[in-house]
Amino acid sequence: MAKIIYSRKTPLPPTKLDKPNAELFRPSGAIKAQINPQLGQHVIWNCDSTKALFAGGFDLVLCSPPYFHPQTKSNTHGLSPDLTDLNGFAEWVAQILLRASRALKPRRSLCFVKTDVKYRTTILPIGFRIAACTEKLGLPVQAHWIWQRMPHYSPYAPSFGNIFVLGSADLDLLCHPGLFRTDDCRNRLTPSSFTPSLFEQLIRQLTKPNGCILDPFVGLGSTPLAAFRSRRWSVGVELSPKQVAKAKEILADHMLVTVRISQ
Ligand SMILES: C[S@@+](CC[C@H](N)C(=O)[O-])C[C@H]1O[C@@H](n2cnc3c(N)ncnc32)[C@H](O)[C@@H]1O
Repeated sequence: MAKIIYSRKTPLPPTKLDKPNAELFRPSGAIKAQINPQLGQHVIWNCDSTKALFAGGFDLVLCSPPYFHPQTKSNTHGLSPDLTDLNGFAEWVAQILLRASRALKPRRSLCFVKTDVKYRTTILPIGFRIAACTEKLGLPVQAHWIWQRMPHYSPYAPSFGNIFVLGSADLDLLCHPGLFRTDDCRNRLTPSSFTPSLFEQLIRQLTKPNGCILDPFVGLGSTPLAAFRSRRWSVGVELSPKQVAKAKEILADHMLVTVRISQ
């Protein structure tokens, strides 16, 4: 069967990196956690991705960035930064993605999933704004895929999400028809951003067994669960102690996770 590629055939050369906007990180202290790949285990760091030092050689960065709404903050999807301006939010996320991407092995990619938000009479293209910012920072978009999910998944978002693959990806790994479907039902106890089935498909598509995946916004732990199910390893970072505690509880039914705390 012929391979269908809905992706760039030639990777774009990285552009010169823009100077990071230091103000957005509100650097108030020294970097406390050094985030390295941990083969043979799954680790969740309870710390701030804007302050962590991402080091080492990861095979994939995979995440779903925090919730954004121009007027409200979500209390079910974890903390969002104190930004109600979409461009400011997109730049904030892009800066973290850029820093995380520097911990990738050569020719490995960063993948993020973002659903748009229905707002008044329009849909806010949150993922595309983030992708536009990462492009400016030298992380080009190599593929754009669609995640089709259950229609009842979320009342404030369309029933599909956008998947972006960034960086200098191995082109063979980008060969995909471009549509990912999941049928995991929304569990009333977990927010709709907990998407282990989608993440498992993405991990299998973009990495080989035994690789290690970094998630700078690990939330309730879709990435560790998906990595565990697909025989890969994972390191996640999560700012909210509540989310870390919930993740620990959810994941304990399936696998062993080590939690580390850095203030
Ligand atoms: C959309 S959720 C991630 C969902 C995740 N994929 C899951 O399986 O639950 C985004 C997460 O990023 C976390 N977050 C927000 N700002 C952060 C920061 N500066 N550092 C680390 N985590 C952060 C939020 O607390 C939230 O749990």
